[in-house]
Amino acid sequence: MALLASALITVTGEQPGSTDKWIAPAAEARKKNPIAVSESSLAAGQKVYAKRCVACHGKTGNGDGPDAAELGIHPAKLSDPLMREETDGELFWKITVGKKPMPNYGKRLSPTDRWNVINYLRSLARR
Ligand code: HEC
Repeated sequence: MALLASALITVTGEQPGSTDKWIAPAAEARKKNPIAVSESSLAAGQKVYAKRCVACHGKTGNGDGPDAAELGIHPAKLSDPLMREETDGELFWKITVGKKPMPNYGKRLSPTDRWNVINYLRSLARR
């Protein structure tokens, strides 16, 4: 168990110079979600997710959507409990800028829709 714990710390800790981990700039990470979690926000977020994100990330966020197999890279597992380590600001920045093959949503979704989908993502991550 101690081994597992230290392995987890290695995975989630800062990794300067690493190219394969996607890390948001600190200033972006500090951005606060202006939209409180509510039934209407979750419903709006779920709509966006079902339309734009499910194909890759999968219905439950397991990264197993119908398009995932063709990508040659695993879409992030949004259901992973480690997602809780990321701030809403980090997720917002990632959804805004995208990272191949994930599209950027800065122009495709309004800021409100991006924050709503983040509120919804929070309900996918397992505890
Ligand atoms: C074409 C497939 C595709 C679509 C559509 C897509 N994604 Fe992604 N997404 C990916 C891939 C692949 C990654 C992993 C990128 C990497 O780390 O290199 C990713 C990563 C992410 C991450 C980062 C997770 C982390 O570990 O920090 C978030 C958040 C995310 N996606 C949210 C979304 C949301 C929200 C939508 C819909 C608005 C969406 N994605 C649509 C493929 C996709």
